Amino acid sequence: MASSGRATAPDPPAHERTGDIEALADYALRYIRPGMTLGLGTGRAAAAFIRAIGRKRLKVRGVATSRASEALAHSLKIEVADLADVKSIDVDFDGADEVDPRLNLIKGYGGALLREKVVATLSRRRIILIGIEKRVARLGARGWLPVEVVPFAAPLAMREISRTGLIPRIRMSPEGEPARTDNGNLLLDCATRGIRNPARLDRQLATIPGVVGTGLFVGIADLVLVAAPDGSVSTMKRRRP
Ligand code: A5P
Repeated sequence: MASSGRATAPDPPAHERTGDIEALADYALRYIRPGMTLGLGTGRAAAAFIRAIGRKRLKVRGVATSRASEALAHSLKIEVADLADVKSIDVDFDGADEVDPRLNLIKGYGGALLREKVVATLSRRRIILIGIEKRVARLGARGWLPVEVVPFAAPLAMREISRTGLIPRIRMSPEGEPARTDNGNLLLDCATRGIRNPARLDRQLATIPGVVGTGLFVGIADLVLVAAPDGSVSTMKRRRP
């Protein structure tokens, strides 16, 4: 394990969960129709959405982005399909850790960034559910960018990532071991003071051997639903060129 294996997980982002996520999850149901195939994200907002589907007993099937979301969907009797068995995904619903004014995202505080990006990329429409506290003027404002790496390559990847100006450290589990993703990989929580050009940084990181995914979701989200503390919802829409 890399020498910085003793790093601890970053503090949870300073998010008071000020947006009413449960109300938001109910609101989001208006975007689905019976028979649809949905991407099921990971995290609190995505879980609230999955529970809302379960409460209404909507006849949809999901493609889960994590074992946790799969287990939750199963427990609510929502059909879950393997990615290999679906031709396309109608709408992906997921949360985010940061959203900038261009609808670029940082994801992965919950550790599911790789599968989340795969499912989002395969979906015809991507809808992001956040509390208002996740909106930022510039990505990186909360201080962290998660990056998933193959364990064997972690020492090299950490060195190369440092050259971009980020400061990587291995995420640790509550038991004090390096945390593993559902894919068996490590997560590097990369400290940042703000990301000037998310697309460029994402390209740079993607060329580092051993990096299998970054938490930068650039140009992926189509619609962001933003919950306010009073339960009201506002929307941010991507302007397509
Ligand atoms: C999981 O890997 C993440 O990308 C989550 O989707 C994201 O962190 C948002 O999670 P919350 O809704 O729990 O804040």
